[in-house]
Amino acid sequence: MNAIRFALPFAAAIAAAPGFAADDPLLAEARGVASAIPPKLLTVLQEEIQKGGAEGAIGVCREKAPAMAKAASEQTGWAIRRVSLKNRNPKAVPDAWEEAVLKDFDKRVATGEKPTSLEKGEVVTLDGKKVYRYMKALPTQDLCLQCHGTPDRISPAVQAKLKDLYPNDKAVGYAPAEIRGAITLKKPI
Ligand code: HEC
Repeated sequence: MNAIRFALPFAAAIAAAPGFAADDPLLAEARGVASAIPPKLLTVLQEEIQKGGAEGAIGVCREKAPAMAKAASEQTGWAIRRVSLKNRNPKAVPDAWEEAVLKDFDKRVATGEKPTSLEKGEVVTLDGKKVYRYMKALPTQDLCLQCHGTPDRISPAVQAKLKDLYPNDKAVGYAPAEIRGAITLKKPI
């Protein structure tokens, strides 16, 4: 339904401007879906940290984040997950397209782009079918460093719990305003 409605204008947009589709409805739709989740998650994280410290808030990133992504997926029809070049959850490994986008985000931050505005949308062919893919960067801010920062920023209790839950954790050592990872969406068109 939506796929058909969006497919035609999108094809036209690409034909008119390869690589750049600012007016594309699929880009706008994906951006809207991707942008709704992080602020909600941040609010819950802040509340939980205030109540029980970072240790008590680990469950927010562990359970609430995937639950919110799942609910948004069911509501919107977009497959949604989080990925990182230095993943904590062993499943949060980017595929080739996602890895290239994350590396590009890092490059763009290094050349002075604002991490909060980094996104990428593209039509790709997956298994012979056209799919729209979108990623939006998830930058670090001070609060994140209690669980993703250098060891001096992470309390011993949090370090112990993370080590227990994620023996192969790579998601530490971050400074503020770095790209922690991205929210990644895809949908057949
Ligand atoms: C209270 C601890 C805590 C805080 C604070 C926290 N995170 Fe996390 N983060 C985690 C845990 C635990 C996971 C693994 C979740 C899972 O199992 O899927 C995670 C996973 C992630 C992932 C998914 C990719 C991966 O590495 O598994 C991203 C992206 C992420 N966090 C970004 C952030 C950002 C951005 C902030 C700040 C706004 C933040 N986190 C704050 C604990 C935290």
